[in-house]
Order: sequence, then structure tokens, then C-alpha cells
Amino acid sequence: MIALEKAAKPLRGDVFVPGDKSISHRSIMFGAISEGTTEITGFLESADCLSTIDCFRKMGIIIDHSMRPSNGVPVITVHGKGLGGLNAPKDTLYTGNSGTTTRLMSGILAAQPFDCNITGDSSIEKRPMNRVMKPLNQMGADITSLRGNECCPLHISGGKTLRGINYRSPIASAQVKSAVLLAGLYAVGDTVVYEPALSRNHTEIMLTAFGADIHNEVATDGSAAAILHPGMPLHGIKINVPGDISSAAYFIAAALVVPGSELLIRNVGVNSTRDGIIRVLGQMGADITLLNLDESQEPKADILVRYSELSGGANGKFEIGGKDIPTMIDELPVVAVIAACADCDTIIRDAAELRVKESNRIDAVVENLKAMGCDIEATEDGMIIHGGKPLHGADIKTYNDHRLAMSFAVAALAAEGTTRIVDDRCAGISYPSFFKDLQSLL
Ligand code: S3P
Repeated sequence: MIALEKAAKPLRGDVFVPGDKSISHRSIMFGAISEGTTEITGFLESADCLSTIDCFRKMGIIIDHSMRPSNGVPVITVHGKGLGGLNAPKDTLYTGNSGTTTRLMSGILAAQPFDCNITGDSSIEKRPMNRVMKPLNQMGADITSLRGNECCPLHISGGKTLRGINYRSPIASAQVKSAVLLAGLYAVGDTVVYEPALSRNHTEIMLTAFGADIHNEVATDGSAAAILHPGMPLHGIKINVPGDISSAAYFIAAALVVPGSELLIRNVGVNSTRDGIIRVLGQMGADITLLNLDESQEPKADILVRYSELSGGANGKFEIGGKDIPTMIDELPVVAVIAACADCDTIIRDAAELRVKESNRIDAVVENLKAMGCDIEATEDGMIIHGGKPLHGADIKTYNDHRLAMSFAVAALAAEGTTRIVDDRCAGISYPSFFKDLQSLL
């Protein structure tokens, strides 16, 4: 349990956030199915990414952890065995709380010569898996839900020949897109995944670096396409993982809700499929500047954020929806906290996906912000936040969801009295040192 009080002074200083979760997962998975070694620095050592390491070790991949002798920087080395190098695991593959591990790995497992089972914790066992089972089975895979409820545990039968697919995903989801593309690496013929808006494209960028023939295009109907021509060998590479913008979001928010604050968050990934929080908060009047922008394939920058009074434009209203949503999906809980402190109404729409994340994030955010005194209502696909009412401390229910624990730690800084976060340890799913890093600024 952690108890937090309203911030007594402005937050000032430099912050380094840990490595990007999406990129860290992919570096292990793609390294495992490539020939030769992949060396990763900046890897996120959080519970979710350790689940990915554990699963690939169970399939015979050697993954070492060492320190670079010259500078003591931690390095993860994945000894890849190529597309056909995985061994049958002895037990069920356990993915913990990680949707990314479960769904992306299903795409790889669909094409293996062996049978296996995959499951995770009680949250994973409730999250929809049909979104990957359906396209993968259309490609010729044989994946079934053991309880017949379209959720984990899944049984994946091996030895199937997969066919490339033209798949129109009804949702913008990088997990769905990536699962289909990974299966496509093993398939006969090309695979194209269309989605209504471009979701994070780390898979496309990283697979290109590993040697795959894959790219993004805007289709004639305006949808986003990822196109893969299989057959290229994958080879190990060196990867330097940038800081996670989803983790930086809590410090951006903290600076925006505590008057007088100024924070510099260093070395953060600002890929345009992930930077919605910066663009949208900028439109609301937040003073956020990118410094030292490094425009490599996965661009990164230092983010300077200064306290600003946010407003909703001429009619006192601000709307967040459409194609911005996939670019800030994991940040929406903390954006709701910022909106609760802003002197305007904020409407979040087109975000029904929040209901099937690690928890039902629409209902959980609304319940907790209400408990803190906010005037807020849930909608089917988002929420309406009447911001500007003073917040007070409350007992927060995180539903074991890391993003809720961290979002409400930020809300606590703007609330009169004490806010208690009972299961604060769930922050370790994506950011083990979060509370220590936050407290160092208080
Ligand atoms: C992720 C994709 C997103 C995101 C999740 C990580 C990824 O999920 O919410 O935290 O690494 O591909 P969806 O694909 O379900 O939108």
C-alpha cells in the first residue's frame, strides 16, 4: 500500500524512464526467431517483458543478461535459432499479465511443428483472444480456447501449413496486426493486414531491421495497410530501446497538474504512432517541447514539459477521438486525470478498446475519479469529464492494473488530503521503479 499527499511544491528536474515495453517484447521475440545473436540495451526489465523472456527460454532459446565491461550498461543477448529453431515447451507457456506476449506469441506458435498451451493470469484469462484466433485460423492454424469462451488458456496444434492472408481488422490493434504478420513470416504467399487507423508500427520497423520484406502503406480506401512478402532470412541485430512514452506520460501529467512544475524527461521514444499524448495535450494548451530530436527509424527526444493551464477552446470543450486514439490508447487513463484538473469539459470517444485492457479502464477510471470528487460519466466508448472541480484524496481501486496505479498516483498530487493505492506493486508490470522515481521529485 502506498499513501500519497497533495504535492507541497512544484516538481522540477530531469527524469529517465525505463525502456519501451512494446519494443522490448519484440526485441526478444524477433531475436529468438532470427539467425545469430541480438544484443539489446535499454531493455525494460518489468514483469511483462520478463514473461516474454521466460516463454522463449522454455522453447530452448538462450537469453543472457550481462554488463558491458567498458561502461557497465546492462545488455540482454538473445541467441536466435532462426524461424524454425524453437523447441516444444514441456509445460504450458505462462504469459502473466501480458497481452502483447500472449497475442504476438500466438502468431509465432501457430506456425510451429509442435503443439502447445498458452495462458496467463486472471486478467489474461478474461481478455478476448478471438481477435487473433480468427485471422490465424483463417490462415490455416488450429487454435482453440480450452474453455470454449474465446479466452485463454489456448491450445495451439502444430504442424499446419499456413497461407498468407489479406486481413481487414475491425480494430486498430498492433497486437492483432503483429500476430498475423508474425504468422505471415512462415506462410505461403504474401500477408496484408488492413486496419482502420495505423496502430503502433514497431513490428514493421523492427522486422525490417532484422531483414524482413515488410512495409506500411495507406490503402486506396484510407485504411492503413501492413504488407509482408515472406521468404527473407532474419538475422540478429543490435537494438537500443528508447524510453517508453507510456511511462513518460505520468511525468508529463504530473507536471501539468502541479502548478509551477517543469520536468525534462530524457530519451523517450516519440514514434508518430505513439505520440498522441503530446499532440493532443499541445492542442489543449500544454507547454511541451521536444528537444534533441533524433529522427532514426524509432525517433527519440527529450520532452520538456512546463505546468500550463489547459482549456477546451472557444466553447470550453475538448474532444479526443478518431485516429488519435490508437496513438495514445495506453495514456488515456492519465489523460482523464489531467482532464479532471483542467478547467473545461473533455470528451473521450472511439475508445471502447479501453474496456478490454488489463482492466475495464473506462469503468475503473470513472469510478476512481468520482471517488476523488470529479464530475465524470462513462459512455460506451469513452467518458465525459467535467473538469475543474477540486479533487480530494480517496482509496483507489486499481484492479491490479499498472496504468491505473500510476495514473492515480498522479491524481493524488493534485488532490487535497491522502490518496491510498492499495496494490501499488502492480506498477511493476511496466515500470518497477515508478513510485521511487516519482517520490524522488516530491
Ligand atoms: C501493444 C499494443 C496495444 C497496447 C499494448 C501494447 C503492443 O494493444 O495497448 O499495451 O505492444 O503491440 P492493442 O493492440 O490491443 O491495441
